[in-house]
Amino acid sequence: MKRIGVLVSGGGSNLQAIIDSIDNGSLEAEIAVVISNKPGVFALERASTHGIPTLVIDHRGFAVNHEFDAAILKVLLEYRVDLVCLAGFLRILDRILTDAYPNRVLNIHPALLPAFGGKGMYGHHVHEAVIASGTKYSGATVHLVTPETDIGPIIRQGIVAITDTDTPETLAEKVLKIEHQIYPEAIKSVLEERIIIDGMRTRENLGRESK
Ligand code: GAR
Repeated sequence: MKRIGVLVSGGGSNLQAIIDSIDNGSLEAEIAVVISNKPGVFALERASTHGIPTLVIDHRGFAVNHEFDAAILKVLLEYRVDLVCLAGFLRILDRILTDAYPNRVLNIHPALLPAFGGKGMYGHHVHEAVIASGTKYSGATVHLVTPETDIGPIIRQGIVAITDTDTPETLAEKVLKIEHQIYPEAIKSVLEERIIIDGMRTRENLGRESK
């Protein structure tokens, strides 16, 4: 059974979607540990309710990013994690983690990357920028994490239409629904080693080609 480590900073609805997919049998995996950089967030409660070990590693206790990431990596290795999933984790990672887990760190972003990503683009900031831009569509992106923020081969995307009455809040709700569908699906494809990476492009091996 493959072991997932989930990194969170907030409510954890994406964590819940992963838990639910495991519970209903659509995703064959085990969540080995949930790590939050913030104490007291609801994601930790969701994990505990399901008997998943949790840990708080508060970034404020570290002088430099590198040491914070090293502390996270230590825990992931202790829990023998195969795949790391960032699920509303609002810290930018040092390359120590992606070096230790090449093509094995996934992130979900609440917009259609490569638009509306990068430093400062997280949570409501993303939806505000999307609405302000006048674009008619937004969505969510699951991608492999690389040392540059929000730039990494895209595994899966889902789209939502933006209506004239949408606000950042209503858009966030619509996008979250899509996130909850595509994240477990993307995790499944990666764990089943069906993703073929070709530069920035990925495709899914549907059983007809060798990797
Ligand atoms: C989600 O919308 C996720 O895409 C976003 O934070 C929210 C967390 O929700 N992540 C980012 O903005 C990362 N750049 P959740 O805690 O309910 O899963």
